Amino acid sequence: MRRKVIAGNWKMNMLPNEAMTFIEQITPMVKSTQNEVILCVPYTDLFYCLLGVQNTNIKIGAQNMHWEEKGGYTGEVSAQMLKSIGVEYVIIGHSERRQYFAEKDETVNKKIKSALQHELKPIICVGESLEQREQGKQTEIITEQTKLALEGLDSNQVKKCMIAYEPIWAIGTGKTATSEDANEAIKSIRNEIRNLYGDEVANEIIILYGGSVKSENSKELFSTSDIDGGLVGGASLKPEEFAKICLSV
Ligand code: 13P
Repeated sequence: MRRKVIAGNWKMNMLPNEAMTFIEQITPMVKSTQNEVILCVPYTDLFYCLLGVQNTNIKIGAQNMHWEEKGGYTGEVSAQMLKSIGVEYVIIGHSERRQYFAEKDETVNKKIKSALQHELKPIICVGESLEQREQGKQTEIITEQTKLALEGLDSNQVKKCMIAYEPIWAIGTGKTATSEDANEAIKSIRNEIRNLYGDEVANEIIILYGGSVKSENSKELFSTSDIDGGLVGGASLKPEEFAKICLSV
C-alpha cells in the first residue's frame, strides 16, 4: 500500500509572520495523521518554516530551483542552497512556471537531475491545457511530459520522485476533474512509468492530483485506486481547511 501525501503549494502567498502563525495553528491539528504532510513555501519563508516545523510531522519544500549549483544566475536559487538549510522537497515544472517563466520539459529534466544529486525530493508537475483536453490529447500530453521529465534517470532515482497531475484548466478555477477522470489520467501516468521502469517502480511511485482540491472533494479523490494524495493551492492557505484535507483519508 502506498502512503498518502498531502502537499500544500502556497505559491506567492504568506509573509513569514503569517507562515509562523499557520504552522503554530496547524501543528496540533495534523499531529496524529499517518499521512505525509508537506508545505511548499516561498523562498523567503523557508528558513522560518523549517524552524517552525521542528519536532512536528510537517515537511517543508520549495516551489522551484535552478539546475546549476552556483554561478552567474542573478535571482536564482540552487538545489545545493535549498539542501543546505534543510529543505526536503521541491516542486519542479509547475504549469505556472511553464506558462509564465518559460519552463520547458528540458529544463524540468535538468532541475530534477540536480535536485536528486543534492538529495532533494522532486514533486514533478504535469498536466494538459483545456484546449489539449478538448482535442482529446490529455493522455498523450501527460505521458510525454512524464517521459521527458524522467529522461536519463534510473529506477532508484525515479522512486525518489513524486508526480503531481494538475490539469491546467482545474487550477485556481474551482473546476475539479471528476475523481474518475483524475484517476484515469493518473493511471495513464503510472502505466507510462510501468513501460519505462517496470512494475516495482510503477507500484511504488507516489502520484498526486492537483487542481481545486478542497475538503469537500478530497476524500473522494484520494480514495480512488491510483490517486495517492493532493497538491493543494488555494485551500492550503487556511490551517483548518488544509488540516481537514490532510485528515480526509
Ligand atoms: P488550486 O488548488 O488553487 O487550484 O491550485 C492547484 C495548484 O496549482 C497546486 O500546485
